[in-house]
Amino acid sequence: MIYLAVFVLCGFPGGALAKGQKSKARLSSPVLDVQARYLAMEANQTLHLNCKGRWELSWTFPKTVVKDLHSLTVVEHRCGKQDKLHCSSLRLSPALVKHTGSFSCTYQRNHKKQAAVYVYVTGRYQPFVEMHTEVPEVLYLKEGQALTFPCRVTTPDLQVSLVKFPGQRLIPDQKNIIWNSMRGFIVPNPTFQHIGLFSCEITVDGLLYSNKYLTHRQVNKILDVYLNSTEPLLALRGDRFALNCTVTAAWNSRVSITWRYPGQTDGSASISRRILEGQSSRVFYSILSIPQLRRSDHGLYVCRVTSGPSSRETNVSLTVYDQPFIRLKHRHGPLLEALAGQKAYKLSVKLRAFPTPQVIWLKDGAVAAERCSRYNVEGNSLVIRDVAPEDAGVYTVLVGIQQYRLYKNLTISLVVNMKPQIEEKAVSLQDSGIVRLGTSRALLCTSAGIPPAKIHWLWYPCPQKGPTPAPLA
Ligand SMILES: *[C@@H]1O[C@H](CO)[C@@H](O)[C@H](O)[C@H]1NC(C)=O
Ligand SMILES: *[C@@H]1O[C@H](CO)[C@@H](O)[C@H](O)[C@H]1NC(C)=O
Ligand SMILES: *[C@@H]1O[C@H](CO)[C@@H](O)[C@H](O)[C@H]1NC(C)=O
Ligand SMILES: *[C@@H]1O[C@H](CO)[C@@H](O)[C@H](O)[C@H]1NC(C)=O
Ligand SMILES: *[C@@H]1O[C@H](CO)[C@@H](O)[C@H](O)[C@H]1NC(C)=O
Repeated sequence: MIYLAVFVLCGFPGGALAKGQKSKARLSSPVLDVQARYLAMEANQTLHLNCKGRWELSWTFPKTVVKDLHSLTVVEHRCGKQDKLHCSSLRLSPALVKHTGSFSCTYQRNHKKQAAVYVYVTGRYQPFVEMHTEVPEVLYLKEGQALTFPCRVTTPDLQVSLVKFPGQRLIPDQKNIIWNSMRGFIVPNPTFQHIGLFSCEITVDGLLYSNKYLTHRQVNKILDVYLNSTEPLLALRGDRFALNCTVTAAWNSRVSITWRYPGQTDGSASISRRILEGQSSRVFYSILSIPQLRRSDHGLYVCRVTSGPSSRETNVSLTVYDQPFIRLKHRHGPLLEALAGQKAYKLSVKLRAFPTPQVIWLKDGAVAAERCSRYNVEGNSLVIRDVAPEDAGVYTVLVGIQQYRLYKNLTISLVVNMKPQIEEKAVSLQDSGIVRLGTSRALLCTSAGIPPAKIHWLWYPCPQKGPTPAPLA
């Protein structure tokens, strides 16, 4: 095993070895057997690290090592004078390029106290720890945050370039662009110039290796959020239920859509998502579906959308009925009165039903709307225009939900009143009205009206010399 161990004094905590020795004696932090800031080794070799401390120890290592735990062995034992100290040995075999990263030994009781070493695992044709030559990795630019092109390398002293397409080479000046072989290229204050397609490039033995990155400016602009129903929803227990939340956001926004709903804790609903790219905007769909509604699914469904610091939400309520029903009652009693000549008269009942029923009005046993063109069904009511005496009769409203064979009916009797009228009134003045003294003459008055009018006779003496005859009535 060959280690390339390098001391980097300025990076060593304590700044001077003497001080390092002192803290080592007290072991306020664990100590590694490798005191260099980094190690470089060939792939397929075995990595050995030993750590010593006063209390129980634990290790942290790159995520890729966590995934390859079968390659890793950690042995703990007591050590030092009278076995007062704790020692731990880590063995990673074989070490692979992807294991490149920081290994640190910490106290279990205080993870801040640590000793760390960065291990480069070099592969012959793998200058980059992560290789993605064809499909660029997408990086998001966030306001006020540094931008990192994470092209970490497997050997510390490789010559890496950052290139912006098409062909602009960006030189790291360690101020505006920083190169760090453990992290990649870092742009502390990115601007719009850092939006586009970039690549990290290395030439080894005449071969060009490149990793591509596509940067996007993160925008947080939600343009619209809506559910495919704004009306309160009604459903039956056992029904399938689905709700569509549509979100329109600015083109390169990233949004997160979450739902709040009554059955959230027991996961009764499944949620599926879709994204459609438009010219200037993106449409996100989130569909919540429940295969079989239960009574407990009754309540408010809220679709909440967040994009960075902005958020919007919208909701709709769902009522779950146990079974289909029709509730039908008189609104103003079974006997109603209208007045002939009325412009319109509305016959209405109190009706609640689910699912939506079919409503038919009958007059004296025949379908009302077919009987007379003045009869119109509006909603669940029957409207009679220009009320006439012949509209009196017995009306029946039939309510039915065919699918569930549910039927109800209700009967209303309508009386049409008419203002009393005197039929002779128009002709009375045309009679001469001259009667010989001493003879008898019958006066006739015919009246019409519903209910029948009561007739009273009144007499007025004639005016002395009037040009017109005195009124009789
Ligand atoms: C490591 O071993 C694998 C197979 O065991 C081999 O394909 C690879 O080339 C080796 N890598 C190096 C750097 O020797
Ligand atoms: C519901 O979502 C689908 C996507 O599966 C979409 O095509 C459809 O237009 C949406 N409907 C409404 C009414 O929003
Ligand atoms: C809403 O969208 C879902 C899924 O596309 C659909 O199953 C459901 O019937 C829609 N609801 C309404 C009220 O349109
Ligand atoms: C539901 O939406 C309405 C407006 O659409 C709003 O007034 C109400 O506060 C919302 N309710 C909840 C619980 O979010
Ligand atoms: C109205 O309902 C009663 C039972 O409530 C039923 O006997 C009658 O046949 C129904 N009438 C019509 C016209 O359906």
